[in-house]
Amino acid sequence: MQSVLLSVPGSEATVERLRARLDAEVGAVTVRHFPDGELYVRIDAPVAGRDVVLVCGLDRPADKILPFLFLAATARDLGARRVGLVAPYLSFMRQDSRFHPGEGITSTYFAGLVSGAVDWLVTVDPHLHRWSSLAEIYKIPADVVHAAPAIADWVKRHVPSPVLVGPDAESEQWVAAVAARIDAPYQVLEKTRRGDRDVSVSPPDLARCNGHTPVLVDDIISTGRTMIETVRHLRVHGVREPICVGVHAVFAERAHDELLAAGAARVVTCNTIEHHSNRICVADALAEGVRARLAS
Ligand code: R5P
Repeated sequence: MQSVLLSVPGSEATVERLRARLDAEVGAVTVRHFPDGELYVRIDAPVAGRDVVLVCGLDRPADKILPFLFLAATARDLGARRVGLVAPYLSFMRQDSRFHPGEGITSTYFAGLVSGAVDWLVTVDPHLHRWSSLAEIYKIPADVVHAAPAIADWVKRHVPSPVLVGPDAESEQWVAAVAARIDAPYQVLEKTRRGDRDVSVSPPDLARCNGHTPVLVDDIISTGRTMIETVRHLRVHGVREPICVGVHAVFAERAHDELLAAGAARVVTCNTIEHHSNRICVADALAEGVRARLAS
């Protein structure tokens, strides 16, 4: 029986990309507020006995989590065989430790919520730093698909003579994977973060940038400070204008424009979060992950 794709409001574009790649039907959902602010949800598709794939981009998650949880519960209540979550961007992963006394480790709490609501999860390159895998915190099968192949294809097609630059140690997983696929050099810098917007990055090895176009790659661009500090180092020393590539276009406030103003030639992102900088499509990888999960 065909699976049913359902979009939590805001993820319709991802659903459409998946529908084109999977043998799945798209079901209609209604999510609205009652006059008192409480939520009404309805699924207008036959889901009994079928696999339901709920798609929910989890950037700016506060308004999306309750609709997601209620739709997942409704699908189960209506007799769905299994309910899975496709979250191209998985939020809360950066709060993976108690950095200061009294803080909540929200990556764990959110994993608990999702694990109770659905039977499986597929996501794109979650921020794995202090957690080494999603299995440490998710109690359901949680599969990760990677953006590096699509990023590598884009860099190969658009950037002559690139040198990949990772602004911090965690970014090595992306820069190394992209560099290996296109046979380009790479270097990884060191970052110190003292606060949300207070970041310093070690200077790049300028000699290894000579004659190349720097391509900065990181998983998340949020305030943009990590990328901005790296771009500044390069521009001060007259290196070619760098291209900034982010997997997840979180872009807090004016981060995108500030990054361009700091001297980035282009800012390019994957379509895990809808944004006008999206140039790299990761739908093939996402569909492959969903297909594998549905077949299991
Ligand atoms: C953290 O280590 C991530 O990999 C990114 O480097 C970070 O989230 C970027 O944040 P921002 O854009 O706020 O500097």
